[in-house]
Amino acid sequence: MTKIIIIGAGAMGSAFTIPCIENGNDVTLIGTHLENNLIDEISKSAHPALKVTLPKKLKLEKFEKIKDFSDADLIVCAVSSLGIDWFIDQISQMGNKKLNIVLLTKGLSIEAGKLITISYKIKNELKKNGFDDASVSAIKGPCLAAGLANKMRTGTVIASENKDTSKLIQKTITTEYYSTETSEDVKGVEFCGAIKNIYSMLIGASEGLSNPSAPESIKSKYFLNTSASLIHRSISEMVKFVKYFGGNETTVYGLAGLGDLYVSAIGGRNSQMGKYLGQGTLYKEAKEKFMKDITVEGAQLALEIGPILLKELKKNEFPLMFNILETICNNKKLSINW
Ligand SMILES: NC(=O)c1ccc[n+]([C@@H]2O[C@H](COP(=O)([O-])OP(=O)(O)OC[C@H]3O[C@@H](n4cnc5c(N)ncnc54)[C@H](O)[C@@H]3O)[C@@H](O)[C@H]2O)c1
Repeated sequence: MTKIIIIGAGAMGSAFTIPCIENGNDVTLIGTHLENNLIDEISKSAHPALKVTLPKKLKLEKFEKIKDFSDADLIVCAVSSLGIDWFIDQISQMGNKKLNIVLLTKGLSIEAGKLITISYKIKNELKKNGFDDASVSAIKGPCLAAGLANKMRTGTVIASENKDTSKLIQKTITTEYYSTETSEDVKGVEFCGAIKNIYSMLIGASEGLSNPSAPESIKSKYFLNTSASLIHRSISEMVKFVKYFGGNETTVYGLAGLGDLYVSAIGGRNSQMGKYLGQGTLYKEAKEKFMKDITVEGAQLALEIGPILLKELKKNEFPLMFNILETICNNKKLSINW
């Protein structure tokens, strides 16, 4: 039996408890400092985002308890990228210096003007606090949290530099509906998981970009031609991007790249934002008018890393990335270099 603590009781952290419990593990879900009320709520009724009641064997705790779980075999980080600094502060208080961390969060970070993965950031920050032997693995792939919570079949990639760690995680989380693959390409898997959010906005814009003067009934049906072309071009660019930052090409064609891009592009908040941008709405206006309190991870990431990428990369090598970054960061109308 593996002792698992999952930090972050949002949609994904909570859904992830389901395969973990099903495999007979000892699982505790700890809410962040923003989730004390949520922990009370889900101890009595269904999770509000998932509309699913979490398993009875699941233990629920509020964030004050985090440091008591130093002896956990796996510590799962399920906060969004905005919560990573908070997560690092919390686990830095733990007594056990050999933490085995599993990262669900998708995103990237910046250190000394350079783009880095979140797992690298966590490792580095922990080292400063004397955690020299902490391991950070990443799980990425096409996984809408409510789908996992309802045991809809999906597949995911466990990326770790250590094969034994991958095997332990695989044994712990794999179920009939949650199949797992392993990879040693942590960088590639994390870069894919983050940048697919940016490219999925572009694919979401297909309808507006297909032929603006075509009748609505035609556009709403045949924009799929445009989407397919953009998916193809996005994947080609993602390959170049991931290789540029030290990941493997093959990772992009797998679950963390193509698989996750597909899910994000056909539904979800990134492609919804893309739809507004494709219709000609400026980013700031679309956010304020239609998606004010909704987190659009792709746009958030574009704002974080855009200024660096726009300086470091060449527009002729990454035309689609430039198109979307200029649209979000400079609040310009979206146009594609076809
Ligand atoms: N690896 C996967 O298979 C997979 C699948 C789905 C989502 N995700 C990723 O998991 C992360 C969470 O997604 P979600 O759907 O659960 O989102 P959510 O909005 O439901 O939950 C967000 C979580 O982050 C925490 N959080 C937000 N801001 C914070 C802050 N400033 N300080 C501390 N904590 C903060 C919240 O309390 C909550 O626990 C995202 O990065 C998402 O991309 C991964």
